[in-house]
Amino acid sequence: MTDHDVRVLDESEFRAAHTLFRGALHHPPAPDDTWKLVRESYEPGRAFGAFVDGELVGTAQSFPSRLAVPGGAVVTNAAVSRVGVRADWTRRGVLSSVQRAQLRGLRSAGEVVATLRASETAIYGRYGYGVATRFRLLRIDRRQAAPRTRPAGRVRLVDGESGERIARGLFEELSPRRAGTIARWPAWWAFNVRQAAAEDNLKLAVRSGASGDDGYVAFKVTPGVHDATDEKPTTLSVLDLWARDAEAWADLWLFVLGIDLVAEVTAFGRPVDEPVEWLLGDRRACRVADVADETWLRLLDVPAALAARTYAAGEPVVLGVRDTYLPENAGSYRVAADGVTRVDDAPELVLDVDVLASAYLGDVSFSTLAAARRLDVVEAGALARADALFAAAEVPWCGTYF
Ligand SMILES: CC(C)(COP(=O)(O)OP(=O)(O)OC[C@H]1O[C@@H](n2cnc3c(N)ncnc32)[C@H](O)[C@@H]1OP(=O)(O)O)[C@@H](O)C(=O)NCCC(=O)NCCS
Repeated sequence: MTDHDVRVLDESEFRAAHTLFRGALHHPPAPDDTWKLVRESYEPGRAFGAFVDGELVGTAQSFPSRLAVPGGAVVTNAAVSRVGVRADWTRRGVLSSVQRAQLRGLRSAGEVVATLRASETAIYGRYGYGVATRFRLLRIDRRQAAPRTRPAGRVRLVDGESGERIARGLFEELSPRRAGTIARWPAWWAFNVRQAAAEDNLKLAVRSGASGDDGYVAFKVTPGVHDATDEKPTTLSVLDLWARDAEAWADLWLFVLGIDLVAEVTAFGRPVDEPVEWLLGDRRACRVADVADETWLRLLDVPAALAARTYAAGEPVVLGVRDTYLPENAGSYRVAADGVTRVDDAPELVLDVDVLASAYLGDVSFSTLAAARRLDVVEAGALARADALFAAAEVPWCGTYF
């Protein structure tokens, strides 16, 4: 496959790259006022472009972030986004060239992992990305829901500016407690909260308990038609919800379920273990409309990533890792409860780096991956040992869409 001319883009080329990306998603170029905001999210050195005869034909970019891993540590994370190839240049290896340059560039810059959201599932596995977290899409018939309990604390509506400040503070405090969450960059808040509050009817509500503010929910109500047919119900979408403890969490859900003139409450991107249906008098009012892949994780620096997380008790296992795009990751790793060492020993389980990424946060076990023929089992007893070591205390979840 030809290697196209790929390089880091100059600031003067950011707008063309953004236009190309939007075009690949079938959107028109951003108007001038939107571009002003978008421009802030392009950081020097982080956007790549592929050129053919001097013309930009493909691009990818990343936001600076961090990923929380099992055990409480955080590692550097490049949140990869705005990946696109011009429609008249697809399936000629342009993305592969961009990926080669981006993966190499990010690893050289010291990033430990990269994460992304995939528009289509067929694209990123070949570059070493594996599905590492999942989310649920909930649809709740509000009038049928009949919550079983009443709020224990106080939930208040707050305006956009103070709401964003409180939400950011709570998010930064609470999110790293869960493996799979990522740090948000300033432009994430500017787009998803500030602009959405000003232009898109986004509302923020903050919960307070005995020790002050301890959770928030961001939501949006799309008015429907109030008539007997219910053809177009008024819908409340929960866009972001974080709570310090179970009490705050329940109050925030009870608050949104209690808002009048709403027929349906939807929540996109929620954790798979969130017990919303258990709050309701009629659990069938809460329908799981989808369980989908959320984080696509790329371990850029496998030794650093394996060393960053903790492991549960158990006997050691030797993993043999394959990585064609970043071959320095390839080799044998002895994973034990007290740490990870690179060894020359024969591997007991052999797997590609995307499969290791899927198991890394603990969302899926090695046994499940082996059953699906995603790894080679050299030593049968190794599967149970790997399962025990990588077992997650809590289901990993990201909760930040980008
Ligand atoms: C997805 C996209 C970036 C791929 O770019 P591309 O330059 O066509 O990809 P490449 O030619 O380098 O493809 C490399 C391999 O991936 C496969 N592939 C790439 N995109 C694919 C897709 N959408 N579906 C199935 N296979 C795909 C190619 O067939 C090729 O396989 P091969 O190596 O076996 O021949 C491009 O199609 C695009 O811009 N799509 C619209 C925007 C989009 O979805 N962006 C991603 C946002 S997350």
